[in-house]
Amino acid sequence: MLSEQDFIVNDNTTSVEKGTFQWSAPSNIALVKYWGKKENQIPANPSISFTLNNCKTITNLAFTKKHFDKLSVTNNRFSFDLLFEGKPKEEFKPKIQKFFERIDVYCPYLKDYHFTIDTENTFPHSSGIASSASGMAALAMNIMSLEKALNPTMTNQFFFQKASFLARLGSGSACRSIKGNIVVWGKHAEIEGSSDLFGVEFPAKIHENFKNYQDTILLVDKGEKQVSSTIGHDLMHNHPFAEQRFAQAHDNLAKIKIIFETGNLDEFIQIVESEALTLHAMMMTSLPYFILMKPNTLEIINTIWKFRNETNIPICFTLDAGANVHILYPENVREHVLQFIKDELVGYCQNGNYICDTIGNGSQILT
Ligand code: PMV
Repeated sequence: MLSEQDFIVNDNTTSVEKGTFQWSAPSNIALVKYWGKKENQIPANPSISFTLNNCKTITNLAFTKKHFDKLSVTNNRFSFDLLFEGKPKEEFKPKIQKFFERIDVYCPYLKDYHFTIDTENTFPHSSGIASSASGMAALAMNIMSLEKALNPTMTNQFFFQKASFLARLGSGSACRSIKGNIVVWGKHAEIEGSSDLFGVEFPAKIHENFKNYQDTILLVDKGEKQVSSTIGHDLMHNHPFAEQRFAQAHDNLAKIKIIFETGNLDEFIQIVESEALTLHAMMMTSLPYFILMKPNTLEIINTIWKFRNETNIPICFTLDAGANVHILYPENVREHVLQFIKDELVGYCQNGNYICDTIGNGSQILT
């Protein structure tokens, strides 16, 4: 069992002057939700997600070794330029600075280099789709490519585990964006290899019904988040229902493990929708309380329920910490569901916008 200490670099075996890497990492959508955390980004309960395929961040990391006299103060600072779609983006820098500070102890070589980080998303900015998961995962992959260049004997398993470990320190759910297609994060008694420190590929059997599962994201509200997820997680500390909720997440994960094996879509729907509503119920019952759903979120949910009752097509919804609705369904009903979305749901989306995605394989190296 790996501990935090195992991710600390002791010494580099190779010297590298400069280079460039480019990785893409996707977004992910949780089925059993993570809401509430302990110190150092340790989750209060385990979660499980589908890794997406089309909604992703592509990040290019160029690095050059700094040369300075040993006593210089700049020696001991992080040095980087941050570009978004090729143009300098000062507002993103504090988040990266904070990330570097958090992972400094695990990646002491970062201060030896000047970095140019150039990043872009395949989904529209301010679509209400959080780019923190895909963004932190893509950056963590690039950093691990540098670490592997410095320590070429590193195993593949360690490479991906540490990438997920670093991504987690950037944004908790980002650790589920390194691998596909279904990822568990958080220690669970019945999931072999599961850890609070990093995400692992779901290790058990997955029924055919879940192959190429579809996720169509209806963009209901593109506004800035009313409540940051950091504040939201914090509100679970004095929450009256916290303990029951954390226990429920363990139960739901045990149930979903069996569902993935049997392929029972009715039971899948029940857990996924209940988890989404529970996440929002936690927000509505914290102090301060808040509501992230919009009227159109509810319209969409009711329309999905009516369609499912009338057609028996196994579609369901889930929600993130926002108003957008993810519609999940098997590949074999795709045509029918897309027609339903066009006919009955597009009117509830801001400017008629929605994104078609599917379950995917996780991060990928581009150069
Ligand atoms: O990764 P964070 O800290 O932004 O938290 C995300 C939490 C949810 O998206 C609401 C749920 C989840 O498990 O992804």
